[in-house]
Amino acid sequence: MVHSGESRDAILRAYRERTPRSAALYSTARDVLAGGTTGNLRHFAPYPLYFKTGLGSRMTDIDGNHYIDCFLCNGPLLPGHRHARIEQAVREHAGVGPLVPNPELAVQAAQAMQRVVPCAERVRFLNSGTEAVMTAVRVARAHSGKPAIVKFFGHYHGQDDQFLVGLDASRAPFGAGVPSDAYANIRLLRHGDIAALEETLERHHDIAAVMLDPAMHSGGLWGSSREYLAAVREITARYGVLLVFDEVITGFRLAPGGAQQLYGVTPDIATFAKAIGAGEKLAAVAGREAVMRVLDPERPAGTPFVFQSGTGNDGTSALAAGVAAIALYEDLYRAGEYALLAARAQCLADGLRSAFAARGVPFHANQIGPMLQLFLSGAAPGFEAFANLPAEPLQLFYLALINEGVLLSLPTSNHIYLSFAHTDADIARVLDRTAHVLGRYDFAQIVREAGS
Ligand SMILES: Cc1ncc(COP(=O)(O)O)c(C=O)c1O
Repeated sequence: MVHSGESRDAILRAYRERTPRSAALYSTARDVLAGGTTGNLRHFAPYPLYFKTGLGSRMTDIDGNHYIDCFLCNGPLLPGHRHARIEQAVREHAGVGPLVPNPELAVQAAQAMQRVVPCAERVRFLNSGTEAVMTAVRVARAHSGKPAIVKFFGHYHGQDDQFLVGLDASRAPFGAGVPSDAYANIRLLRHGDIAALEETLERHHDIAAVMLDPAMHSGGLWGSSREYLAAVREITARYGVLLVFDEVITGFRLAPGGAQQLYGVTPDIATFAKAIGAGEKLAAVAGREAVMRVLDPERPAGTPFVFQSGTGNDGTSALAAGVAAIALYEDLYRAGEYALLAARAQCLADGLRSAFAARGVPFHANQIGPMLQLFLSGAAPGFEAFANLPAEPLQLFYLALINEGVLLSLPTSNHIYLSFAHTDADIARVLDRTAHVLGRYDFAQIVREAGS
């Protein structure tokens, strides 16, 4: 086994040896792309990997290295890379052209949403989760005539300034350039604290909506119990406050109808992106007709009007992919594949627990459906205790697995997702390579030195 200080150097050296083309492209990319990538989470030390192709559960980087991909471009590729049914649907509509106004496909995609998503009495399609969230809160504010939104610490809702607060356990905005008046109407509460929610709704009468990601994905995948969601539903209904589920992560992934189907709790509005387009740029906001009516030019006279538009909202390939993806998810659900996928993720989580325990490395894994997040810590599990763990030990673990042909997560993300393309053999391979990495490098020492 290579010990502590040497481990870090050995992992970085192996990475550099395997990926010289990524190193060279990074240096070129830095001269043209801001930061050398198209988003901050895609960057990691010593330099990001650049990929060439994906197929099924695999990806290939520009050096020709092959990987089992458990990152799925941060989630959209729930069917796997280049699923035949999605590709065929996009091909079949190629003759339409990239964009025509009011395509039939938009109606078909909304009908598909209505079939599977309990709250989807009316739907509007957009391009990203960020836009869907912006529209959802605008609709909620217009419908209620109130300005404030309850948001929970550790919940990410996209790039809009007003939601870039409380991403970790602090009230500070995440990154510079976010003026404090942008989030003046955001009330931050602890996820899971029903008493605090009830007290807030009782005391403050300016709240339009309570917004939450049922998985609490960005904050560590701490999730929500059915009882908690039911209690939030009951309290919001009692105080006449709208409930918004941000299902950008959970939508179509926990069940075709998302968390609202799985937990049997129906919000007033929900937002979707990622898996709905299976890689194409599709997002949606869906909700009760009585609420979504604010978007309708033929709404009753004297009722509030919300302006919402987007040049790319009719994108042919996005909508074609959405129709095909939803039908695919329905078929997979009927065939029992969602249960198998969750069982595969459970098997991965259990295998990782055993592998770390065998080497005496402090470890905790959260798993919900096909998603996992890992923590190298001996602290009692919980959002606050785990929110500020030193990042480097886990990043080195992910990098060491990349050297073994396993992209379990991009090192800066800690987001693991399984797709319907992953097989039991893929899981066995990931666990085999994990055991190899933990046998080779002294992660117990790395974690001790980082003070996790
Ligand atoms: C829960 C949640 N909401 C919203 C977003 C924003 O979606 P997008 O990146 O498509 O703008 C994300 C992105 O990861 C998310 O996880």
